[in-house]
Amino acid sequence: MPATVLVGTQWGDEGKGKIIDVLTKDTDVVVRYQGGNNAGHTVEIGDKKYVLHLIPSGIFREGQPCVIGNGLVVDPIALVEEMEGLVEQGLSVDAIQLSTKAHLILPYHKEMDAYNEMIKSDADKIGTTKRGIGPSYSDKASRTGIRALEMLKLEKYEQRFRTEGIKFNKLFATAGVKELDLDAEWLRLKEAAEYLQSYITDTVLTVNKALKEGKNVLFEGAQGTFLDIDHGTYPYVTSSNTTSGGACTGAGVSPKHITSIWGVMKVYTTRVGEGPFPTELLCDVGQKLGTIGGEFGATTGRPRRCGWFDAVASNYSCMINGIDKLALTKIDVLDTFDELLICTAYDVNGVVTSEMPTDSEDLTIVKPIYESMPGWTSETTQITDYELLPIEAKNYINRIAELVEADIGIVSVGPNRAQTFEVNC
Ligand code: GDP
Ligand code: IMO
Ligand code: MG
Repeated sequence: MPATVLVGTQWGDEGKGKIIDVLTKDTDVVVRYQGGNNAGHTVEIGDKKYVLHLIPSGIFREGQPCVIGNGLVVDPIALVEEMEGLVEQGLSVDAIQLSTKAHLILPYHKEMDAYNEMIKSDADKIGTTKRGIGPSYSDKASRTGIRALEMLKLEKYEQRFRTEGIKFNKLFATAGVKELDLDAEWLRLKEAAEYLQSYITDTVLTVNKALKEGKNVLFEGAQGTFLDIDHGTYPYVTSSNTTSGGACTGAGVSPKHITSIWGVMKVYTTRVGEGPFPTELLCDVGQKLGTIGGEFGATTGRPRRCGWFDAVASNYSCMINGIDKLALTKIDVLDTFDELLICTAYDVNGVVTSEMPTDSEDLTIVKPIYESMPGWTSETTQITDYELLPIEAKNYINRIAELVEADIGIVSVGPNRAQTFEVNC
């Protein structure tokens, strides 16, 4: 702390929600800074399991302001549903603050997202979450977006929604897609706006005031490095900057404030949706990782593609993000494997390299070069101290640290908050 950014270092679902929840024991303010409800962050506390999509994973620490920053795209109806769901489970949502400057995902964005995917050939599909993320960010960049602050002025909001809605409906009509009933949609949006009004504020001030007062602020990344719109496997990416730099623009803080950067890294690799994945295992081993790891999307329920740990990609990720400390998750998922493979280089058309290719098309043809390590074949889920890990697990962890050139600060051996310990290697 005091200003810590946490990012996913792979293709998302690394266990960010769990690690954020662990780190928030020392935090005063938690801030989401990009993405939308495409995210699904799981937190398990005791026998309760929660999945958060827009609300920061600090919500379980009472009283900590939970900021939904300007860099997000927010579906107001989904946000209300998520808030109501937490209230039903006995949690308070009073600490939520929604940035005036966050852009809204409106019903036509979701329809457009589905349509854009539908018209693509199988080879070109991105496999989006169909939450309207891309079309909403497109409107933001085209300067036709509607921001959260409009929800404070209902008359103008309605007028803008209808103007944009008519535009989209014309496109839908031309494309043969069912047009939206703007009257019915507006009633739902108005209701959501009235619910959210008291949470809307200039969160840039909240965050900067907290930093000025020396408080600990944690910036919660969503998705993962290789889904970043600039640095990911474009075009098979999401529409925001998921890497650590995104925290500054997405929350409205100067880079001068950032004091440390955590990366969350799964000890194997998963990806949900389409796009290149060099170490993907389309065999029993991949299936075994998926089954033991419970690898199903927390947002869409889709099975995640699974593969061995990719040190080439992960090293690049640590460089781009400037990782100070890594939280290594899902060690326990490897408990029953006799042999573990780590990809240390790629063979690109006969040329061996440990550099990440810049053209994601090359990533579809690379052949991973693996080194083998012995598994530990014993249960780690009850272990609470690094020293008590089997030697093979320690060797595996240390080899990852060496290959990705980053220090390990946390090891996670199960989904529960309690199945976590600090390390220094
Ligand atoms: P996020 O999007 O990065 O927050 O990750 P998700 O919540 O989408 O997916 C991670 C999944 O792994 C969730 O079901 C977590 O409960 C679970 N998880 C997190 N850490 C561990 C771990 O160390 N071991 C196991 N077995 N599961 C974990
Ligand atoms: P968390 O925060 C994993 C993927 C989608 C798709 C691509 C684009 O839980 O790690 P989008 O709907 O964003 O336009 O989809 O990005 N994707 C994720 N994959 N974890 C996520 O979030 C993701 N959010 C988006 O599957 O391939
Ligand atoms: Mg997730």
